[in-house]
Amino acid sequence: MIDFYLNGRRQRCRDVSADTSTLELLREGLGQTGTKEGCASGDCGACTVAIGEPGEDGELVYHNANACLTPAHQLDGCHLVTVEGLASGERLHPAQAAMVDCHGSQCGFCTPGIVMSLFTLYEDQRRRPAPLNQARLEEALGGNLCRCTGYRPIRDAALAMGDYPAADPAWAEDAGLAGHVACLRQPRDGEPAAAGHDVSHYVTPRDLEALRALKAERPDARLVAGGTDLWLEATQQLKALDDLIDVRRVAELNAIEETEAGWWVGASVTLARLTPLLAEPYPAFVHLMHRFASSQIRHRATLGGNIANASPIGDTPPVLLALDAILRLDGPGGPRELPLSDFFLDYRQTALADDEFIAAVFLPRPSAAQNLKVWKLSKRREDDISAVLAAFAWRLEDGVMRDVHLAFGGMAAVPRRAPAAEAALEGRAPDAEAFAAARAALGEELAPMSDVRGSAEYRRLAAGNLLERLRLMIAAEHGPIDDNGANDNNDSATKVTLDAYAH
Ligand SMILES: Cc1cc2nc3c(=O)[nH]c(=O)nc-3n(C[C@H](O)[C@H](O)[C@H](O)COP(=O)(O)OP(=O)(O)OC[C@H]3O[C@@H](n4cnc5c(N)ncnc54)[C@H](O)[C@@H]3O)c2cc1C
Ligand code: FES
Ligand code: FES
Repeated sequence: MIDFYLNGRRQRCRDVSADTSTLELLREGLGQTGTKEGCASGDCGACTVAIGEPGEDGELVYHNANACLTPAHQLDGCHLVTVEGLASGERLHPAQAAMVDCHGSQCGFCTPGIVMSLFTLYEDQRRRPAPLNQARLEEALGGNLCRCTGYRPIRDAALAMGDYPAADPAWAEDAGLAGHVACLRQPRDGEPAAAGHDVSHYVTPRDLEALRALKAERPDARLVAGGTDLWLEATQQLKALDDLIDVRRVAELNAIEETEAGWWVGASVTLARLTPLLAEPYPAFVHLMHRFASSQIRHRATLGGNIANASPIGDTPPVLLALDAILRLDGPGGPRELPLSDFFLDYRQTALADDEFIAAVFLPRPSAAQNLKVWKLSKRREDDISAVLAAFAWRLEDGVMRDVHLAFGGMAAVPRRAPAAEAALEGRAPDAEAFAAARAALGEELAPMSDVRGSAEYRRLAAGNLLERLRLMIAAEHGPIDDNGANDNNDSATKVTLDAYAH
């Protein structure tokens, strides 16, 4: 049974098969057709809904999500808000009223999704007021496509909605709603910790022991976390997903543990939750997170899912490789640690045994003077997958490069480092000669593939150019290195030009 609230009303849905998406449940099961289906692959945002979950302060915290990729069973213990739930009688929600007044809709197909992303922005502003600048608007709306209105009126509506009288959707009058929703999340009477739902096989274990036991019993069952990759198998390849173990609510997989050496981040921590943790140690990683898919995806997708998926163009693995991350794998045999560099074996093949899962990822604290640069090349800035991703870590010591880590996505069957290119730079001044040697080595050791995102030649050229960009950035930041290893950072012409490259 899926026990949740929909627009303030409790719903108990029985006999829902494991592979049902939230969109299917809404449109086909509950007759709520305001939420639209465009692409069924997370790209258009027409199906955007808001999911409310109890936050630390006991209030419901809402995020936008793609209903087409969100497993219906993950609604259990949540408050789902759809476009049908926003108005109060005749009175529109400020997000809707502003869209009407700013002429933010033409054919209207994208509009319910856009309104729901505006609703989550509105809620976020209510909880954490902040200036609505361009970056914040792009962050909120980057996962919503509109083909006919154009984005200016939609942006105007976003900027205007805060000036309307406060929202009062009918459900907002239920002061106890957050408490009711929280109650649904408790294991039910007589329900063992590992029990889940009653149709096909969708199980939602709550702790590590339960997950280990389930993996031992059913090693062939698929794990699902955010579902933002896995669900495409159902919607795009029409495969059956009828035996699923949901790792999203496993307490240990949601923990973030800080140690002197770094952070153990639970595999089920979402990218949206991970991002603030990275702000201080790794701003370049945060910058990448803003380029990762869309707000809808980042609020559901997990770090463990991004790694286990083992895509050659996954965004976090190259960065984690550059930072020497370690995985904690777990299973019926107990935990073991494995450097991420030993995890990816071949195209979509990993070192995970059939009955194992990723429990956590260790992110080391940056060492003194360590630098990290991350560049993602994709065809669009918003909501697009990398053609090439480069993550470079190094430090400069007495004018030479040390601990050089050059990691790439999109340059081989797996995300990987480039040891020959690293060796060409290690212990060398960051000058043109050393970088030319590194670039030559890179061309030898990486064999990119050709696909719709880019040809092998494009990728090889782009990766080499990113190395050159690194050289120019180092020169701009530290000045050219002279024969005595000293810096001259008065090269203002280079510096001004290169400020444009900063991200
Ligand atoms: C529109 C769109 C845009 C995207 N953009 C990007 C992008 O910019 N960059 C990028 O890197 N990816 C992108 N993706 C891919 C996807 O969002 C990410 O890979 C995401 O991190 C997957 O995490 P998840 O929790 O949703 O994984 P799921 O889909 O739930 O699972 C993915 C795989 O990992 C396995 N798995 C999940 N958790 C575990 C675990 N703890 N242990 C072992 N196996 C596990 C599952 O069985 C499955 O095989 C995009 C996807 C879509 C639909
Ligand atoms: S239908 Fe396009 S994102 Fe869901
Ligand atoms: S109004 Fe037609 S797609 Fe946006």
